[in-house]
Amino acid sequence: MSRTIGIIGVGEIASAIVEGSCASGDHPGFFLSPRNAERSARLASDFDRVEVCESNQDVVDRSDHIIVSVLPQQTESVLSALDIPSDRTLISAITGVSVEALSPLLPQKPSIVRVIPLPPVRERQGVTAVYPDHPQVEEFFDVLVGTVVAETEQLFSTLSATTATMSAYYAYLQTIADWLVSQGWGRVDADRIIRGQFAGLGNKLSTTDSSFADLVAGHETPGGLNEMLHREWMDENNVAALSTSLDRVFARVTGKD
Ligand SMILES: NC(=O)c1ccc[n+]([C@@H]2O[C@H](COP(=O)([O-])OP(=O)(O)OC[C@H]3O[C@@H](n4cnc5c(N)ncnc54)[C@H](OP(=O)(O)O)[C@@H]3O)[C@@H](O)[C@H]2O)c1
Repeated sequence: MSRTIGIIGVGEIASAIVEGSCASGDHPGFFLSPRNAERSARLASDFDRVEVCESNQDVVDRSDHIIVSVLPQQTESVLSALDIPSDRTLISAITGVSVEALSPLLPQKPSIVRVIPLPPVRERQGVTAVYPDHPQVEEFFDVLVGTVVAETEQLFSTLSATTATMSAYYAYLQTIADWLVSQGWGRVDADRIIRGQFAGLGNKLSTTDSSFADLVAGHETPGGLNEMLHREWMDENNVAALSTSLDRVFARVTGKD
């Protein structure tokens, strides 16, 4: 990957990318938008070869590859104010904005690559979706632990849908902890118990290649308690509701809702 990466939209996900990348001494140089003065200044003071630029255009002028990670509704105003030459690569982390929608905002036709980086890139544990394939972009995100390249933009968008399941996962844990509290446990202990239980399962995921089906089978005894809760709670209706919700998020990220 080029030694110069610009970032416009130095928010949550961009900070995670910079922090994950800079965890190794051998990281590219970063040029940051000045918009989020405090956050950009902190990153620049925490890491070598991270600089805050004078303007978004200055970011473009000094970088070979530019990660744009603003909110979808900010895309047009941010990109239309910039002159991005054809020899640059625009790496868009913006959710739900297609290559077709980005192209008219980039009259000089830089390469466009869409990515879905996830918060665990901060700990170098996030697999980043990439579309279309781009060896230098893949090389950069591979360091943050890996990439998966989508063959089509439709397939890429299915991953936007599945990343929408993260807060529901925490809400599931919260609901279990809330039940313990309703039974008389204090909040601190209830949270600690559930955290410990699921942190162990999370570690297991990162250390095994077992299929999900095998993991399910491995964590329930026929006729046992896990199987009972699994079957009772995740019944046909519940499974169908999750599937329908994924369909609806997919429709939204592909502009079809
Ligand atoms: N967070 C995630 O886990 C995640 C994962 C994958 C993809 N994404 C996508 O990545 C994008 C950013 O998400 P985020 O969670 O990082 O949001 P965020 O924390 O709100 O970051 C967006 C940043 O863009 C800045 N910005 C807005 N207008 C700008 C401009 N004209 N010039 C320069 N910077 C500007 C915002 O600054 P102000 O605060 O001053 O407005 C803000 O710091 C979104 O499209 C999101 O869907 C996020």
